Amino acid sequence: INAICQLQRPEFSHTSICNRCHECCGGLRVLYWPQLPNKPDMLNVHLVPHTHDDVGWLKTVDQYYYGDRNDIQHAGVQYILDSVVDQLIKNPDRRFIYVETAFFYRWWKQQSSATQQTVKQLVDEGRLEFVNGGWCMSDEATTHYSAVIDQMTIGLRFLNETFGPCGRPRVAWHIDPFGHAREHASMFAQMGYDGLFFGRLDYQDRAHRMREKEQELLWRASDSLTPPMADLFTGILPNGYNPPEGFCWDQFCDDPPIRDDPDLEDYNVDDVVKRFLAIAKNQATVYKTNHIIMTMGSDFQYENANLWYKNLDKLIHYVNALQAKGSKVNVLYSTPSCYLQELHRANLTWALKTDDFFPYADDAHDFWTGYFTSRPALKRYERISNGNLQVICNQLEVLGGPVSRKGPFGEGDSQTMKKAMAVAQHHDAVSGTEKQHVANDYARKLAEGWQHCQVVVSNSLAGLSSSSAERIYCDNLNVSVCPLTETRSYCSIINNTDPMHLVHVNCTCMCFLNIIHMTKYRKLNICVYVLQFLQVTFDPDTGLLSSLSNLETKQTIKLTQNFYWYNASDGKNMDSSQPSGAYIFRPNSSTPFGISRTAKTETVQTSVVQEVRQWFAPWVSQVVRLYTDSRTLELEWTVGPVPIDDHLGKEVITRLDTSIKTSEIFYTDSNGREVLQRRKDFRPTWQLKQSEPIAGNYYPINSRAFIKDDEDQLTVVTDRSQGGASIQNGSLEIMLHRRLLYDDFRGVGEPLNEISSIFPEGLVVRGRLLLSLDRPPTAADTHRPLAQQVVLQPLLTFTDGELNSNTRLEFSGLQAALPPAVHLLTLTQWDKDKVLLRLEHQFQSWESKRNSKPVTVNLQKLFSTLDVLGASELNLSANQWKDEMSRFDWTPQTDEKPLLKTFEDHSDWEVTLRPMEIRTFLLRVRLR
Ligand SMILES: *[C@@H]1O[C@H](CO)[C@@H](O)[C@H](O)[C@H]1NC(C)=O
Ligand SMILES: *[C@@H]1O[C@H](CO)[C@@H](O)[C@H](O)[C@H]1NC(C)=O
Ligand SMILES: *[C@@H]1O[C@H](CO)[C@@H](O)[C@H](O)[C@H]1NC(C)=O
Ligand SMILES: *[C@@H]1O[C@H](CO)[C@@H](O)[C@H](O)[C@H]1NC(C)=O
Ligand SMILES: *[C@@H]1O[C@H](CO)[C@@H](O)[C@H](O)[C@H]1NC(C)=O
Ligand SMILES: *[C@@H]1O[C@H](CO)[C@@H](O)[C@H](O)[C@H]1NC(C)=O
Ligand SMILES: [Zn+2]
Repeated sequence: INAICQLQRPEFSHTSICNRCHECCGGLRVLYWPQLPNKPDMLNVHLVPHTHDDVGWLKTVDQYYYGDRNDIQHAGVQYILDSVVDQLIKNPDRRFIYVETAFFYRWWKQQSSATQQTVKQLVDEGRLEFVNGGWCMSDEATTHYSAVIDQMTIGLRFLNETFGPCGRPRVAWHIDPFGHAREHASMFAQMGYDGLFFGRLDYQDRAHRMREKEQELLWRASDSLTPPMADLFTGILPNGYNPPEGFCWDQFCDDPPIRDDPDLEDYNVDDVVKRFLAIAKNQATVYKTNHIIMTMGSDFQYENANLWYKNLDKLIHYVNALQAKGSKVNVLYSTPSCYLQELHRANLTWALKTDDFFPYADDAHDFWTGYFTSRPALKRYERISNGNLQVICNQLEVLGGPVSRKGPFGEGDSQTMKKAMAVAQHHDAVSGTEKQHVANDYARKLAEGWQHCQVVVSNSLAGLSSSSAERIYCDNLNVSVCPLTETRSYCSIINNTDPMHLVHVNCTCMCFLNIIHMTKYRKLNICVYVLQFLQVTFDPDTGLLSSLSNLETKQTIKLTQNFYWYNASDGKNMDSSQPSGAYIFRPNSSTPFGISRTAKTETVQTSVVQEVRQWFAPWVSQVVRLYTDSRTLELEWTVGPVPIDDHLGKEVITRLDTSIKTSEIFYTDSNGREVLQRRKDFRPTWQLKQSEPIAGNYYPINSRAFIKDDEDQLTVVTDRSQGGASIQNGSLEIMLHRRLLYDDFRGVGEPLNEISSIFPEGLVVRGRLLLSLDRPPTAADTHRPLAQQVVLQPLLTFTDGELNSNTRLEFSGLQAALPPAVHLLTLTQWDKDKVLLRLEHQFQSWESKRNSKPVTVNLQKLFSTLDVLGASELNLSANQWKDEMSRFDWTPQTDEKPLLKTFEDHSDWEVTLRPMEIRTFLLRVRLR
């Protein structure tokens, strides 16, 4: 083994013995290991011992770590890691994978250096392998790509710094998320993963793939990036992520242990082996190679790892012993990357997939499309926190230099917020599928993170504007109506589109305005207004919107908008007993109930904004706003408390009915990035039998959805993740709020019925939809920057009294505005003299004549206050140098594998971004 290491890299002096199946050898990756423990002429069964540790769900992340509140759920991650390490030491054949770095990191900090040494050795030898390796296993429907990249970066950075290249996960492991986003696959590919494994997909899709042996496939996850940049091998696990039936040997399970004393009455080895062989052979019939994988573990298992390992040791021993008698089944301890390596060696071609895995149904009436909207207030708070962290906290920390962390306003940091945001990406966090007390804990963590960030921001702004006046922050979620505005003289806006752009403005102008429409209001003493771009009409009889026009492009569509609710199923129903709940959306009837056919209206007009306020019911109202300078129509909806005195759960939607001629097609984005086409009652890869005409047509809307015909495109940009559908032609509906009275039997054990001390009658939620009407070929030029502005909303702070004469009124961290196609995705302090930079091209290759073109940016000419002394390019998750990245290549069944085009940058500093490309750099910088 060492000889092979030396052969591949002569300078390598071995310090650790590389494990036979592990591709990592003292930091060197070895492909095609010659002495694999598997046998080529046999069916090789890869047993993967694992635990699935939710970063919060029924208990908070802290309760799970310590094993507190075992009355709610028996689970303690610290004991799992203790126990697994002990058991791995006992037998060098045993393996384990670990996934959630949020937990591992806490455990690691508490270990003695002797234990840390032992664990390092286990990692070097491939006996303990990290898979996925982000801070958490993110939700895929409701997370924004920027937050997902961040949470992966934090976790993978810890693994690299602690374990070096042997700690770098090769495999993405999303065994539990409730449907799978194409953008996630694209990100994983760009993070250097060789493959992805998951457990949940639509039951019809699975049946079809089992028949066709297509449970292992090649996912082409971008229509803009050149293959294989966003190609990801994807494997669907056979039993979700559970062990095969009858083979669960955890302390929580009741399956019989292997009783192998032949002198005793209850000897069962023959029976166990026979059952196991039957399962293995059966499983092999629905996969392509002579290797199959079995997940041996489940939620929070291995707290007493001895139970599992003792029985697995015996299983392997007794099954393999039969080989002497001619059995052709070989069982081995394995890991997902060892298994993947074997699939790669098989050198087959794989089915190609270009759509995504939404929506997910596990039975005919069980569509997991409710969580796209569940806990709308938490979803919004998470999105605001993301903007604050990305644009405000991270960037001002860089620009302000060390004084931002320790300065006139005390000590602050961005780490607390980064970790709180990372935890919030978990698939039971922002998804809204946790218990109420856990949701409260996620929100509390975000608030605490923001407190730490505020100190950074105050310190940094004091330095940048040469004014140490105290800053007042508007912590209310509804910042746009912050009461401070009217009484303070000067307001600072930290810009979003030109990040780090800071202006002081006259508060009098501002108090009329919604902060995302601040563009024109930068002069101190005058309020500047410009002409109107849009026009709307209302039906005088009903008070509802009736048309929308774009005066620039001379387009007009009929547009009626109203609010409705679906009667949530209570489970007492002939077809199935499935109720609507935190995960599942199941309306009782396909026709939603109207809330009111008419709205009472009132009009308010100032020179900057015209508003029409509409009241539909005591619990549903809306403000329709048209700003003079804006190309978008704002619908600010307020819904709640949703009445339940009729004992009916309600799922509240708003529906836009237009004259746009669609034919059962609409479009939604994936994690805030690329847009996918959706067709009613249709799935691109199998013949759908539709059993839920509404819920089965819902898709996640992360930041935008649109409908279009040849003439008109109506785009709706949302301020948080929501579910939506186009049930009738020309129509688009978005679910805003849900209040439900039954649990939906997916484990959370609570009805989604949000109340709090502020809202004892039920949660009231307010949010905004931004509508734009464009010609289809130019629509992206509007909605791309608009959605970025909504996601990365600027921050307002206020200062009292007069500004002193040397206060800088305006400051930009950028030398010049970036080209419109380019967005500064990340600028964050990495270590003392280095910052991490991500630049992205924010257009898809097909969507804009003007902007879907390569753009070149000069890294040295980006910043006004930083000298860039050096730059090195990294993979997307910043845990590997770009030039060291090498991934398995896979051949799709259908098309020819395109040649990998290599693009050369013009020089070291001039970097070119092609449509949808994100490039990550570590910059060595000096403050000017
Ligand atoms: C994989 O298969 C292709 C086509 O069948 C063949 O040309 C190639 O040599 C094989 N590669 C390996 C490593 O066996
Ligand atoms: C913010 O919203 C809450 C809840 O709707 C409301 O009670 C509060 O008054 C609002 N704040 C302002 C400043 O309007
Ligand atoms: C924010 O930056 C953009 C791009 O540089 C600029 O057009 C806009 O005026 C700025 N907004 C404010 C409020 O300063
Ligand atoms: C802000 O603008 C208003 C309206 O133009 C003006 O009356 C007021 O004096 C300005 N305030 C300051 C502090 O410049
Ligand atoms: C809602 O569904 C229930 C059955 O679960 C039914 O009894 C009730 O009449 C429905 N409500 C309305 C308003 O149709
Ligand atoms: C990984 O960690 C090592 C040790 O701290 C560091 O030297 C190296 O630069 C890191 N690699 C990357 C790609 O950040
Ligand atoms: Zn989970």
